[in-house]
Amino acid sequence: MYFLRFEVSPSMLGKFRIVGDWVVGTKISKAEILDWLRQEDDRYLQDLWQKADAIRRENVGDAVHLRGLIEISNHCVRQCQYCGLRVDHRGLARYRMTEAEIMECVRQAVDYGYGTVVLQSGEDYGIRTEWMASVVRRIKAETPLAVTLSLGERPDTDLIAWREAGADRYLLRFETSDLQLYEKIHPSLPGRWSDRIAILRRLAELGYEVGSGVMIGIPEQTYESLAHDIWLFEVLYLDMIGVGPYIPHPRTPLGQAAIKLGAPQDKQVPNSELMTYKVVALARLACPGANIPSTTALATLNREEGRELGLVRGANVVMPNLTPPQYRVSYEIYPAKACIFETAADCDACVKRRIISLGRTVGSGRGDSPNRSRRIKRAERKLEDLVEDTPCLPCQPQL
Ligand code: 5AD
Ligand code: FES
Repeated sequence: MYFLRFEVSPSMLGKFRIVGDWVVGTKISKAEILDWLRQEDDRYLQDLWQKADAIRRENVGDAVHLRGLIEISNHCVRQCQYCGLRVDHRGLARYRMTEAEIMECVRQAVDYGYGTVVLQSGEDYGIRTEWMASVVRRIKAETPLAVTLSLGERPDTDLIAWREAGADRYLLRFETSDLQLYEKIHPSLPGRWSDRIAILRRLAELGYEVGSGVMIGIPEQTYESLAHDIWLFEVLYLDMIGVGPYIPHPRTPLGQAAIKLGAPQDKQVPNSELMTYKVVALARLACPGANIPSTTALATLNREEGRELGLVRGANVVMPNLTPPQYRVSYEIYPAKACIFETAADCDACVKRRIISLGRTVGSGRGDSPNRSRRIKRAERKLEDLVEDTPCLPCQPQL
């Protein structure tokens, strides 16, 4: 199948400019994805796990890359119906780390041998453009680390400033590609339409490695829409894919079922551990070269071996938490999150022990995804080479 995403830049006087990527041939069809999502028979599922593990090994190897996660602020202006950081969660003690505190965590990342730090926060406009840029510049000047940002739907000027300051990667989950469901659980800010797919394209255009993903088992999420999400991972040619189960937070409208959502039982995706492994494995089949973490949400559902099972079913990254202990408890996206009572040293030792126990190696260096350079090469190909297909709604050309 061939398809193309492009937009017309007014400055190019009507010439087409390719800003996204294009893909020739999909690796797995939506029908196949759907079959796997509905598959419950363990004997068949063993095939999926083995396939995902083999494709992972072939494409990104046995090294498990460690990304040190620093949750730099839990302030958030948004009202996501599922998220504990939402502005209306008044009982939550809010914090914003100082530059000195962040740099202390960054130094720990270097000491532990990590190749990347991930600076994550709610959508916090107290994080000023120039302040963030200067922190990024400092990390890049003082360490060999790759810098990943995950700071929400920030305006273009911020994304440009931070990229110019040296940020390498940006994470922004689109949560679900079902636009009606998305609008229900993630209301737009007044006067600012929330279009995460457009931001992801823009990030790619700015030269970031781009990461996205979804929650699994959101009330009203159907098998069809989840299959479409996974198919979209490939369309977007993502460099990083983070998926995790939806975990109800009792202090959110969705968690309290204050907003009543739910698909008919045979259509509703469960927010289960098994379903999460299926999505990790299918994400690997759809995007062989992507970096895929075995997430904290998975470790929260199965503390004994959730991380390990993610790593043998397609994942190749772990994000040990570096956030200072006094702040961890307040970064309460969902309750009973794994690792909130541990220190950075605890998480480091735990993660490395788990990796070694699987016979895998701890990655060294930045652990970049090969997808970004491939995507750029593809985007450079001539427009005439391309044949359009009918795209899905979020992928429609912006003319
Ligand atoms: N359960 C699971 N994941 C959640 N996130 C936010 N709230 C929840 C929840 N209740 C995820 C979203 C967000 C990421 C930072 O955390 O996918 O993008
Ligand atoms: Fe903060 Fe959703 S409530 S990003």
